[in-house]
Amino acid sequence: MSDFWVVQVTRKNYHLFDDMVFWRQQGRERTAAEKQSSREGQYLDAWGALDSGHLFVYAVQSSGRFVGWISIVFMPKVGPWSKGVLYVDELWTAPDYRRQGVASLLLAKVRPLQAQLQAAGVRLYVGADNPGARKLYESFGFRARNAAIFMEYEDADQDG
Ligand SMILES: CC(C)(COP(=O)(O)OP(=O)(O)OC[C@H]1O[C@@H](n2cnc3c(N)ncnc32)[C@H](O)[C@@H]1OP(=O)(O)O)[C@@H](O)C(=O)NCCC(=O)NCCS
Repeated sequence: MSDFWVVQVTRKNYHLFDDMVFWRQQGRERTAAEKQSSREGQYLDAWGALDSGHLFVYAVQSSGRFVGWISIVFMPKVGPWSKGVLYVDELWTAPDYRRQGVASLLLAKVRPLQAQLQAAGVRLYVGADNPGARKLYESFGFRARNAAIFMEYEDADQDG
């Protein structure tokens, strides 16, 4: 546990985040050579999003690399009824690091961010087939509001 600490993902450390996403998608870590060549790239889209003031990404660092992340979006509201809400978009821990408190360290960033942004609340969705994540969220005070059906539209849905 002492080897874990949370950092905000910024332009400066974004290459470590990119390595972690590769790890998630490919099921293996980048080699040293792959890491080196990936650092030569530019990440302009990601940097723009990270600089937007509406996206907050935190990662847990261990042994010089990132092993988990949380992605939190601030959704502003206009009108008198709300100050805006936070939405937890992604939470992931590398399989070898699960059940060691990594996601808990990341979720601990949510309430301070809510206070900082004066957001009215925090939302997320969790799969009905993901009881472990649900238990984790409940331990941080999240409660299922009602039975909802998650709906989504993606460009890929038009294929075929
Ligand atoms: C869900 C996930 C983020 C949990 O990450 P983690 O770093 O292992 O979580 P933590 O170690 O902080 O877990 C804290 C507590 O949450 C609960 N918990 C977490 N994962 C659990 C699991 N698979 N089964 C049961 N309880 C679980 C436990 O109470 C755990 O405490 P314990 O280990 O002392 O029993 C991780 O399993 C993951 O990345 N899964 C794939 C992606 C995913 O499902 N993300 C959530 C999308 S909504």
